Amino acid sequence: MIDHNNQEEYLDPMNYDLEFGGETDKYEFFLQLAKKYPGHVLELACGTGLATLYLAERGVRITGVDIVEPMLAYARVKAKELSVEFPAEFLEADARTFETDQRYSMIYLTGNAFQAFLSDDDQQALLQTVYNLLEPGGIFAFEMRNPDGNDLSDEEEESWGTFVDVDGVTVKVSGTQTYDAENQIMHWVTIRDWGHRRTTSRIACRFTDVQSLQQLLDKQGFIVEHQYANWDHTAFQPSSPMVISVCKKG
Ligand SMILES: C[S@@+](CC[C@H](N)C(=O)[O-])C[C@H]1O[C@@H](n2cnc3c(N)ncnc32)[C@H](O)[C@@H]1O
Repeated sequence: MIDHNNQEEYLDPMNYDLEFGGETDKYEFFLQLAKKYPGHVLELACGTGLATLYLAERGVRITGVDIVEPMLAYARVKAKELSVEFPAEFLEADARTFETDQRYSMIYLTGNAFQAFLSDDDQQALLQTVYNLLEPGGIFAFEMRNPDGNDLSDEEEESWGTFVDVDGVTVKVSGTQTYDAENQIMHWVTIRDWGHRRTTSRIACRFTDVQSLQQLLDKQGFIVEHQYANWDHTAFQPSSPMVISVCKKG
């Protein structure tokens, strides 16, 4: 049971980018896939458009959808600064129910956004959206953390790293984790020490095992073409911390 809207991590988009941006290997992975399946691309749960805009800058016609307006507002500001052939479009919608007449050659999620879909119903609704909006033979790609490759035990506060914020301040990031095994949901509390203040925010992420994921994708009519452990296309192993799935609409 989540007693918050699971959006606390998305209230400070500029600092979000400084903390989580710069994953060029990942953006390249999706760019190369988009080139292989040319057409209109959709990123669901796109946030501030970190990946969306990387693809747009390199000539991909792309739409980003997210449920948190402040993240999209910042994505649109950044989009305006780019001079590109096809400006990226950003739409506010729930990926579980998003509808449009447009069909896409490729749909992807990243930033482990698949794990934001916390129940079987939510996961199915997301996959139904993706299936409906893909062209025949279209490609669906996303990554998630693999429960068998991660330590899910409860942890007291421990250091997670640092980043430099919009004011040039080095922010110390730490956090706790508490795992609800029954619902397969990890509850993280992130603590950021900005020097003069400390903030906390909560996030819940679902951990789905790879066998259950396979069943879910099969049931929805997707054919899993590849599963990778990393953005460099290393093959997935049962103990890999991450699984990247590339699926075709069957
Ligand atoms: C970890 S962030 C990833 C954002 C972006 N993909 C990235 O890589 O930076 C997860 C995103 O999922 C979005 N999100 C969560 N639930 C959603 C839903 N039901 N529909 C659309 N977006 C959703 C959040 O607003 C947030 O921007």
